[in-house]
Amino acid sequence: MKQSIFRIESNTALTDSVYKMVLSGDTSAITAPGQFVNIQLEGMFLRRPISVCDYDDSTLTIIYKVVGKGTEAMSAMAPGVELDLLTGLGNGYDLSLSGDHPVLIGGGVGVPPMYNLAKKLIAQGKTVSVILGFNTQKEIFYEEEFRALGCEVFVTTVDGSYGIKGFVTNALEAIPYTYFYTCGPEPMLKAVYRFSATSGQMSFEKRMGCGFGACMGCSCKTITGYKRICKEGPVMKKEEILWEN
Ligand SMILES: Cc1cc2nc3c(=O)[nH]c(=O)nc-3n(C[C@H](O)[C@H](O)[C@H](O)COP(=O)(O)OP(=O)(O)OC[C@H]3O[C@@H](n4cnc5c(N)ncnc54)[C@H](O)[C@@H]3O)c2cc1C
Ligand code: FES
Repeated sequence: MKQSIFRIESNTALTDSVYKMVLSGDTSAITAPGQFVNIQLEGMFLRRPISVCDYDDSTLTIIYKVVGKGTEAMSAMAPGVELDLLTGLGNGYDLSLSGDHPVLIGGGVGVPPMYNLAKKLIAQGKTVSVILGFNTQKEIFYEEEFRALGCEVFVTTVDGSYGIKGFVTNALEAIPYTYFYTCGPEPMLKAVYRFSATSGQMSFEKRMGCGFGACMGCSCKTITGYKRICKEGPVMKKEEILWEN
């Protein structure tokens, strides 16, 4: 984990409520797709955890939805503003288990961490299918960005206004995948857990205190005992997940 100052390079709307922010700074603590950063915002006690969408040696991209006062404040920030970030948080996805044809499933703001994961799996020569799930057409973002990486892309919308009508699981049945990676709302994760024919990894969200393993505020029960979502997670393997309700 590293604490350092990042500078906003751009902050643009992708949809009515979802923004893409590119920051420059020291990304050396980020070691795997699926990790997150924790952002300090002026006047707010708790940092805001956001997944890494993409990164290179000196830039970091995050995509966030405006849901409350922290993300609202972020959406109004102009290029040049500096932010205090904790980087390199969480375990991230394990790429070594993917097989030849992994499927990546993102729902809503669960889509962003799939981007750097797809990039890395493509670089390893894997055939990568991606399912992007949204409620309706006007919420869709990053379809073309995944295609540009060379992924096979399926978009589902609950209301059928674009792509396949229904849920991400409606697209999954047609894909001959060897393994899955997913991030999204918990009902979607549960559906993927039940419907998937292979093993896989899922990323969980939980309200956080410290965000780096010190407060135990994000503990959850798994098959192999209690784990901290911010430290041993947010990514869990299918086999270790214990649904509590
Ligand atoms: C590991 C992880 C990765 C995440 N990645 C993304 C992402 O890539 N894009 C994105 O849009 N959102 C992501 N979230 C959710 C994001 O953290 C919340 O939407 C954000 O903190 C809301 O802050 P707020 O001040 O706008 O909302 P408020 O409701 O005002 O926040 C009040 C408090 O609750 C916490 N909180 C609210 N919603 C959540 C939530 N869903 N999960 C955890 N804490 C929450 C806030 O951090 C804050 O401490 C992620 C959450 C986690 C745990
Ligand atoms: S948020 Fe403090 S241990 Fe996870």
